[in-house]
Amino acid sequence: MDKYKEFTKISKEIFKIKNDEEFGNKIFELLKKIIEFESGYIFFLNPERLEYSFNPKCKSISEISKNCLKENLEFKNSVFGVVIITGENFSVDDKEIFASFAAIISNIIKDNELTKVIKMQIEALQNGYTKIHKDTKKIIKADEVKTKFLSHITHELRTPLNSILGFSELLENEFVGKLNNKQKEYINDIKISGINLLAMINEILDMSRIESGSVTLNKSEFEIKTAVTEVLNIIKPLALKKQITIKSSVVDIKIEADYQKIQQILFNLVGNALKYTNIGGEINISVQKSGENLLIKVKDNGIGIEKRHLKKIFNRFEQINKTFPNSTGLGLAITKELVKLHKGGIKVESEPNIGSEFTVTIPLC
Ligand SMILES: Nc1ncnc2c1ncn2[C@@H]1O[C@H](COP(=O)(O)OP(=O)(O)O)[C@@H](O)[C@H]1O
Ligand SMILES: [Mg+2]
Repeated sequence: MDKYKEFTKISKEIFKIKNDEEFGNKIFELLKKIIEFESGYIFFLNPERLEYSFNPKCKSISEISKNCLKENLEFKNSVFGVVIITGENFSVDDKEIFASFAAIISNIIKDNELTKVIKMQIEALQNGYTKIHKDTKKIIKADEVKTKFLSHITHELRTPLNSILGFSELLENEFVGKLNNKQKEYINDIKISGINLLAMINEILDMSRIESGSVTLNKSEFEIKTAVTEVLNIIKPLALKKQITIKSSVVDIKIEADYQKIQQILFNLVGNALKYTNIGGEINISVQKSGENLLIKVKDNGIGIEKRHLKKIFNRFEQINKTFPNSTGLGLAITKELVKLHKGGIKVESEPNIGSEFTVTIPLC
C-alpha cells in the first residue's frame, strides 16, 4: 500500500484518539507506521514548552539537530507551536505527509483546547447558577422574616400611639379642664408628632403588607365627599401649623371602591403636599367625575420636583431631598400600588419652585 493511502487510514485513527489521555504518544506511534523517525516533539510557543513528546532526547527547540522535519502548528493563520521529528534520510513523500500530519494535529489540539475552555465556562456558569439559586432562596427567606417582623412591630406601635392621639384630643377639647395658650400649643405639637408618626408607621405596615402580597380590595359604596372630609380633618392640624390653606372641590357622588385605601391615597398625596410646601402656601384638592373615571387631583405651590426626578419618586425609598423629617420614602410607592389595585393610574406634573400636581385616575365601574 502506498504511503498516502496508509496516511488516510492513520488520519482517521488520529481523530478517534483526540480525547485520549495518551494522545501525545499515540499520534507519534501512528505516524511511525508511515515515516521512520527517532524522536518526536510538539512544542508550544509563547512561552516555549514541550507539550507532547516521543522518545525525546532534547528539552528545547534549539537543542534539536538539523536532521529533522519541522512544521508549524497553526490555527486561523497564527502559529501556536511546532511539531518536529528527528531522523535520517526523510523522503519528499515523508515531508508532504508530515505537513498534512501537522495540519491535522493543529486542528485537533486547538479543538481540544476550545472544548476545555467551553467546558470550564459551562461549569463556571453552572456553579454561579447554583450559588445564585441558593442566595435567592436565602434572600426570599430573610425578606419574609423582615416583612413579618415589620408587620408585627408596626402593629404593636399603633396601639399606644392611637391612645396618645386620643388623649391629646381629649385634653385639646378641654374635657378635663381649661387650658392656657401655652398648654394648647404643646398639646397641638404632641398631636402633630403623633399624626406624623402614625403616618410613618402606617406606611411601613402598608408596604410590608403589599410586599407580602396580602393586600386585597375591600370594596363598598360610599360618598367620596365623606372620605375626603375625614382625611382633611385628620390632616388639619398639620396645615394650621404651617399656615397652609387647603381648598377642596369634591363631586357629590357615591363610588364603589375600598374606602380605607382611597383615604390612604388622599392622605399620602395631601400629606406630601403639606410637607413639601412652604409656610403660607396653598393646596387645591379636586375630586371630579370625568367620563367613566374618578379624577383625584392634589395640587400645591410648594418646592416642586425637577423633571429628571419625576419617574423615580414612585420607587420605594426614593427621596429627592433627605432632609425632610417624618419621611420614609414609601408614600408614593404605596399610593401607586393602591391605585393599581383599583385598576387606576397616577401621574405627576411639577416644576421646581412653582409646585406639583398629582393626578389619580380610578375607573368607576
Ligand atoms: N408634593 C410634592 N412636592 C415636592 N416633592 C414631592 C411631593 N410629593 C413627593 N415629593 C418627592 O417625592 C419623594 C417621594 O415621596 P414619598 O414616597 O411620599 O416619600 P416621603 O414623602 O416619605 O419622602 C419625596 O421624598 C419628595 O422628594
Ligand atoms: Mg410622603
